[in-house]
Amino acid sequence: MNYIGSKNKLSSFITTAVADVAGADLTQKTFCDLFAGTGIVGRTFKKNVKKVISNDLEYYSYVLNKNYIENHEPLDYYSYIEELNKLDGVDGFIFKEYSQNGSMERLYFSENNGRKIDAIRQKIECWKNENKINIKIYYFLLASLLESADKVANTASVYGAYLKQVKKSAQKELIVEPALFQLNDNEHEVFNEDSNILIKKIEGDILYLDPPYNARQYGANYHLLNTIAKYDVFVPKGKTGLRNYNKSNYCSSANVQTSFEDLIKSANFKYTFLSYNNEGLMSAENIKNIMSKYGKYDLVTTNYQRFKADKTENRNHTANATTEYLHILEK
Ligand SMILES: C[S@@+](CC[C@H](N)C(=O)[O-])C[C@H]1O[C@@H](n2cnc3c(N)ncnc32)[C@H](O)[C@@H]1O
Repeated sequence: MNYIGSKNKLSSFITTAVADVAGADLTQKTFCDLFAGTGIVGRTFKKNVKKVISNDLEYYSYVLNKNYIENHEPLDYYSYIEELNKLDGVDGFIFKEYSQNGSMERLYFSENNGRKIDAIRQKIECWKNENKINIKIYYFLLASLLESADKVANTASVYGAYLKQVKKSAQKELIVEPALFQLNDNEHEVFNEDSNILIKKIEGDILYLDPPYNARQYGANYHLLNTIAKYDVFVPKGKTGLRNYNKSNYCSSANVQTSFEDLIKSANFKYTFLSYNNEGLMSAENIKNIMSKYGKYDLVTTNYQRFKADKTENRNHTANATTEYLHILEK
């Protein structure tokens, strides 16, 4: 998934820095990815650590991480994916509110894909309610649907707006591909809470923090992923069909520093690593001052190609490279 702030391309920078500080052998360590998003960082560490704790405020991220992180034993999924891909479309909520030729003409999905998403989503819920699938397969199938729907979304990457014409990739038929996860022997844990509440209830060795850097709220930019994941009843608002969404303190210049300091102070972890870039709401100096109050501080940096949507995003920026910081605290 092309996700704002994804650490997909930075995972080796992060793993190297963690190994340099916390040691190469992490097999007895608990690693927490507190702002997990797509889960890519937790997924990278899952094979090397004893336990991953993963968390995000957004429900779609919870679904992805329930699958990618918490699922760790083989699942017998093949027949379910096959059946989902054979379903005929239905005129459900996604078709009516968010698809071409639906009643609202919001062009997030082609007509065919909107109907397919409804049919698939309804079937997954039906299987769960009839106890035909267990909770592990439920999240596996939901994550597979989210990833597959995102591939055919008619957007310039985020769901803050849709394109005026259905682009080529969005005209392709949605095929549910299995959201495969890393098999291993260990149990992992996934939460869907505010970071500053959860931090007071958990402990471990390595805390990885990757909060939003700027004012763009994830709940607004990915509202349709929450709507597919929750499949609840509400009245979509305005042209874009927005739902009520979470407002994170990390996206607010007025609140970010207080929340960040509260988080650092409350963390019951030996090492904390914070990803942030040089264009974020907090300056590197602010971060250093806060973290230094609670232990030994260090910093590593790398140059990085910023997140780019495929059309209008970032149009005001001329440069593409940004400096990515990894602030380190040893308590
Ligand atoms: C920069 S993204 C994380 C990207 C992730 N590391 C990845 O590679 O996919 C920031 C994440 O923080 C989450 N978030 C924002 N505020 C939060 C809060 N108060 N508590 C927990 N998660 C929060 C957002 O939903 C978003 O997924």
